[in-house]
Amino acid sequence: MNDEIILDIKNVTKRFPGITALKDVSFQVKRGEIHGLCGENGAGKSTLMKILAGVYPYGSYEGSVIYEGKELKLEDRSIRQAIEEGIAIVYQELTLVPQMTVGENIYLGKEPTDNGVINWNKLYSDTKNILDQYHLNVEPQALVSHLGVGKMQMVEIAKALSENAKVLILDEPTSALNEAEIEKLMEILDSLKAHGVTCIYITHKLEEFARITDSVTVLRDGKAVTTLTTKDTSVEELVRYMVGREMKERFPKGARQPGEVIFEVKNLHAVDPGENNRKVLNGVNLNLRKGEILGIAGLMGSGRTELVTTIFGEYGKITEGSIKLEGQEIITKSAREAMNLGISLVPEDRKGLGLVLIQSILNNISLPNLPQFSNAISIDKNAELKACLQQAKDLAIKATNLENPVESLSGGNQQKVVIAKWLMSVPKVLIMDDPTRGVDVGAKYEIYKLMNELAEQGVSIIMISSELEEVLGMSDRVMVMCEGRSNGTLDAAEATQEKIMAYATGIA
Ligand SMILES: Nc1ncnc2c1ncn2[C@@H]1O[C@H](COP(=O)(O)OP(=O)(O)OP(=O)(O)O)[C@@H](O)[C@H]1O
Ligand SMILES: [Mg+2]
Repeated sequence: MNDEIILDIKNVTKRFPGITALKDVSFQVKRGEIHGLCGENGAGKSTLMKILAGVYPYGSYEGSVIYEGKELKLEDRSIRQAIEEGIAIVYQELTLVPQMTVGENIYLGKEPTDNGVINWNKLYSDTKNILDQYHLNVEPQALVSHLGVGKMQMVEIAKALSENAKVLILDEPTSALNEAEIEKLMEILDSLKAHGVTCIYITHKLEEFARITDSVTVLRDGKAVTTLTTKDTSVEELVRYMVGREMKERFPKGARQPGEVIFEVKNLHAVDPGENNRKVLNGVNLNLRKGEILGIAGLMGSGRTELVTTIFGEYGKITEGSIKLEGQEIITKSAREAMNLGISLVPEDRKGLGLVLIQSILNNISLPNLPQFSNAISIDKNAELKACLQQAKDLAIKATNLENPVESLSGGNQQKVVIAKWLMSVPKVLIMDDPTRGVDVGAKYEIYKLMNELAEQGVSIIMISSELEEVLGMSDRVMVMCEGRSNGTLDAAEATQEKIMAYATGIA
């Protein structure tokens, strides 16, 4: 890295109807560095990146972007032009076409041809080369819809890498990756850096800034508040700039008193409903007390999501074992049945499952909860609005109006809408699959506070989390899964990261 400026962002302002997403933003990115960008949900990070990537063309914003000494002037509807200039982006939202193969997705719009006919052999061998070059374990001909979220994210990254860009923008690339995949991505970024590629890196996992970036710019409320050299800063300092105040603790203290066991899973075995010979659960035991928060830890692929979606009646075919709610054995064949029994699930893949993007925030929150606001003849619109406003306030959803479509919200705020929707029903058992993924530090704290309050009201919570700190910070007990089984349960008082990892990897 030298001190040459590759990107000089000067006084950029971007307005949307009713909101100014970027306010006079200026900072510089050096050639060959990994430049972090952080800020709370809605701070303007993705908007700024979309300007660099040509989603919002020249003329749709004020100010200027000087790229390699020249003003960047991307034409309307020409994302291709940004790529030709050498700027590639991995978007925060998944953008792959699920019905197409990995290769078709990577070469979409730039398929290799012979005399105007797509050369499929070349397309797939080129795909294989890229995947191999970065040691990505994905089949070129696999249908994207058959991949897990983590693999899809790796394909998105491979697609951007295939552009041989000078500037690579990664907007929350690790939110769907497991630890091994994150490690792989870090290696890829190191090697790109060694080749002089410049990277802009966005994440809510603040530890990643120290791990990979050279400098970090903080956005707050649409303004660039500072640019720091990574080695001279700390997570605490970043948080202070992001939220504009000191945050003393990351986990609020609860005052709950868990009661008797109300939910029990005994020796549960299940197979994949599509592939009956593929075992996904291999003997899970757990019990959950009234008003308790039970953390579920485990490596990616250990069966955590399979367990909760099976309990919720959405996935696995149970071959052995039982599930009991309040002493009664229950069989849930659909999410609707589970909800009627008082079980809710905040799903993992909120990008795919959770929301109807073109519908209003209000509708998305209230739709599954309409029975609460309805009598035989009509819906009490006032009560509905009031309840939704309360949820939006509790979760600090950053929206100018609940009638706006969900797609106008920033990524993290979309996530909060899904959580709001499931919290509103006040279930007996609330299952949350990685509830704070992609959510900023301040909002995480709000979600934790809500979880504590719900538990104090007697709601029993199962929380899956990949962040060990979060599991330790929030749970009364931690159940650890390994290869489809429950491999051990620890009291919060005796749990440590080391003990959890020992159970998760099967050493203990
Ligand atoms: N297409 C749009 N129409 C209207 N408002 C928008 C649009 N896109 C973004 N916004 C608003 O601009 C602001 C900045 O959003 P942006 O997506 O850039 O935030 P972000 O920093 O990427 O947040 P996150 O961490 O949640 O991804 C938000 O208030 C958002 O609601
Ligand atoms: Mg964003």
